[in-house]
Amino acid sequence: DAGKSGYGHYMLKEINEQPQAIRQCLQGRTSEHQQSVLLEELADLDHDGLVQLVACGTSYHAAMYGEQLLQERGMQAQSFFASEYDADRIAVDNETLVIGVTQSGETADTLSALREANRAGAATLAVTNVVGSSAARECEYVVYIRAGPEISVAATKSFVSQQITLALIASTLADVSLPRFLRALQRLPDHIQRVLDRTTTPAVASEIADSEAYFFIGRGTHVPVALEGALKMKEITYKHAEGFPSGELKHGPLALLTPNTPVIALVTNGGETATKTIGNVNEVAARDAPVIAVTDARESVEGVSDTVLEVPRTHPWLAPVLANVQLQLLSYWVATRLGRPIDKPRHLAKTVTVE
Ligand code: G6P
Repeated sequence: DAGKSGYGHYMLKEINEQPQAIRQCLQGRTSEHQQSVLLEELADLDHDGLVQLVACGTSYHAAMYGEQLLQERGMQAQSFFASEYDADRIAVDNETLVIGVTQSGETADTLSALREANRAGAATLAVTNVVGSSAARECEYVVYIRAGPEISVAATKSFVSQQITLALIASTLADVSLPRFLRALQRLPDHIQRVLDRTTTPAVASEIADSEAYFFIGRGTHVPVALEGALKMKEITYKHAEGFPSGELKHGPLALLTPNTPVIALVTNGGETATKTIGNVNEVAARDAPVIAVTDARESVEGVSDTVLEVPRTHPWLAPVLANVQLQLLSYWVATRLGRPIDKPRHLAKTVTVE
C-alpha cells in the first residue's frame, strides 16, 4: 500500500500522475519558443514514405491516434493489431517505417510483428516505456514515453504518454512546425489537472453503475478514445461495453439501446464533427437510452444529454486526450461502486508474453 501514496488503487494514482507524465514526456523535446519538436532519437531518420503502426490493447488505440495524426500531417499511415500483422500479406519493404507501440516492450504479438518488419527490411521504431526492453532492443530506433512505472493492469498514464510521444514523432517525420499545437501541448498538464480536480464524475458513475451495458461513441480523433473508453470499462468493471464511430450507431448498435444502456458521447471541438455526433445523440435520446456527453461546450449538448462531463477547451488534436481522462475516471468509479479488484482484474495480465 505504501506505493499507492494514499490512493485506494494504483489505477487512481496513475490517472492522477498524468500531468507529471506529460511534463516528463515533453521535457527537452520542444524548442524554447515552442516552434519545433526536438527528438534527438530520430535525428538520423529521414523518412517520408509509408508508416505502419503495430500494437495491442490500449497501445493499439494510441497507435490509431498516431495514424490519424500522421495522416493529418500529410503522411501515409496505417495501424494494425500486432497479432494481425502479416508481412507476407501486407505491403512492407525497405521503404516502410514500422512503429511498435508497447508500454512494456515485451508483448509477444508486438515483438513478433516488429521481427517480421525487420525481416522485410523495414526501418523499425519502438515507442515504449521500459528502457532496454525487448522492443527497444529489436528496433533500430527507440523513443521512450517516460511515463514512469505503471503498476495497475489497466493502462492509463502510459496511454496519454504514448499519444503525446506519437504526436511528437508525427511532427518530426512530417517535418512540420506547429507552434499552436506545441503551445497547447505545454498547457495540457494543467488542462488535465482541471479535469482531475472536478468532483462530478464519481456521482455520475454511481448513477450508471448498475447498467446492463455501456456504449461509447465519437468521430474522427475521438474514435480511438471511444474504443479505449469501452476497453477500460470492460477490463475493470466486467460489464459489457462497446465503442464505435458515432456514425455507425444507426447501422446495428441502435438495436441494443434501452433505458439501461447509457451512451457516452464524445462531443468536443464544435464544427461539423460535433454537430453530426449531436445528431447521433438525438437518435439515442429518442430510444430512451441515457446520454452522458463529454464536452467542452455545455450549451451545445443542452436538451440532448442527461448528464454532462466537462473538459477544458484545447487544441482540436488534444481534445480526445482530455476526454479520455474523464472516461478513465468514469470506469474507475463504476468499478469502485461494484467493488471490483481494480488493479488486478480477473483473467488479465499487465504484460502478455504469449502469442
Ligand atoms: C495487456 C494489458 C493491456 C495492454 C496490452 C498491451 O493486454 O492488460 O493493458 O494495453 O497488454 O501491452 P503493451 O505493454 O504492449 O502496451
